[in-house]
Amino acid sequence: MQNFDLVIKGGTVVTAADTYSADIAICDGRIAMIGENLSASQTIDASGKLVLPGGIEAHCHVEQASAANIMSADDFYSGSVSAAFGGNTCFVPFAAQHRGQNLLEITRTAMDSAAQKAVIDYAFHLIISDPTEELMQSHLPELIEQGCTSFKVYMTYPLLKIADRQILDILSLARERGGTTMVHAENDDVVAWLADRLIERGHEAPKFHAVSHHPLAEAEAARRAIDLARLADSRLLIVHVSTEEAAASVRRARNAGAAIFAETCPQYLFLTADDLDRDGYEGAKFCCSPPPRDKAAQAAMWQGLQNGTFQVFSSDHAPYRFDETGKFKTSPTPTFKQIANGVPGIETRMPLLFSEGVGKGRISLNEFVALTSTNAAKIYGLYPKKGSIVVGGDADLAIWDPQWTRTISHEMLHDNMDYTPYEGRQVTGWPTTVISRGRVVVSDGQLHVERGSGEYVQRAPLPVPPDNDDALLAPQRNFGASLL
Ligand code: URP
Ligand code: ZN
Ligand code: ZN
Repeated sequence: MQNFDLVIKGGTVVTAADTYSADIAICDGRIAMIGENLSASQTIDASGKLVLPGGIEAHCHVEQASAANIMSADDFYSGSVSAAFGGNTCFVPFAAQHRGQNLLEITRTAMDSAAQKAVIDYAFHLIISDPTEELMQSHLPELIEQGCTSFKVYMTYPLLKIADRQILDILSLARERGGTTMVHAENDDVVAWLADRLIERGHEAPKFHAVSHHPLAEAEAARRAIDLARLADSRLLIVHVSTEEAAASVRRARNAGAAIFAETCPQYLFLTADDLDRDGYEGAKFCCSPPPRDKAAQAAMWQGLQNGTFQVFSSDHAPYRFDETGKFKTSPTPTFKQIANGVPGIETRMPLLFSEGVGKGRISLNEFVALTSTNAAKIYGLYPKKGSIVVGGDADLAIWDPQWTRTISHEMLHDNMDYTPYEGRQVTGWPTTVISRGRVVVSDGQLHVERGSGEYVQRAPLPVPPDNDDALLAPQRNFGASLL
């Protein structure tokens, strides 16, 4: 009889593929056996509960300065604690390069800090805003070798955006080296032109943020980004999609077999531009880019989750407090252009999707698991160590009470914010116990692990084309499209 460290007994195990009753035995932080009547000295009774792969939060800004040098309210400790209480066992924040900065040094600093603070496992995406020759020839290849295999580029924000030609360089390098490019797709000139005209006319209130970040700015940039990726024959993931038109472009490209992936976020399912029009500066709490849209766009995002247009559902947690350290850092009376962009949501991401998605019959339990964990693991190279419930994989589990009804309030959350955009919203379904590499991180509303007990996950590069041919001379392969 094998000795296990811990057995999760009597739960309903759910993966992206299957739903069944079983016990899960854990040994040395990994899943050792899935079966019936397993026993160990320590057991957790999961009867009446779902046992899910821990969530993977694949888009969050933690301990990161914005382009305007506004620091996110969460560091790797509070961000990871909040993530854990929301059912996540792994998160992937950014090591963000601002112009003139050395990406190797930035990433080293982020890794050192996360090693001291994170309570769940983590990997890093990179943000590239200054693709110098040294970065392209030396630093980025080295960072891919160190496991940072995904990198985000911006088509907007004057201090972050790079030119199409530079995006092509990065896409080509990703193809050669087994990386994945992520893109923030908004047309910067369209946004700036609209913003300037609005300000000229005295329209400064938060609600005009949503007017300036017009849906067509996103639609055009998404189309362009997709075409650049097709030209370079390189894998691309469009983050935080908010418009029906951008979703349609993703869908069309995917139907044509291109290696285009996409993500949407809670703010595009549960908020609208009307939230930016709340009294006074309240609307600043909802200013993020792209902005929340309208009911029709919300419906299109749900459809995209249902029909496979979106593979990943992330929070884009970008926590700026409703005070002088965050939303009002630049001015006590900022114009919409001066308000820090971003909304928090790392803890509420999974409960919101579970409640409104699974609970209301919009998506299945298995789709929920795919969207919150498995697909991100596969696309970002964390699978099968992370993202499923499989013998040999890390014992990263969220024991989920599908009946637990809670009213979201900022007080119950564990981030370092002073508001939640979802205040007062009732949800049904929340994790009761969260286990990371066999360690009970959260149970009975308590945190049970030390700062710095999370580990860095070194990701292997994804496969490159067999003969790594030149994308311009070879026929279009759509290489890397079949990761799921
Ligand atoms: O408004 C947002 N999304 N802020 C965070 C930065 C980004 O673009 O993802
Ligand atoms: Zn972005
Ligand atoms: Zn983001």
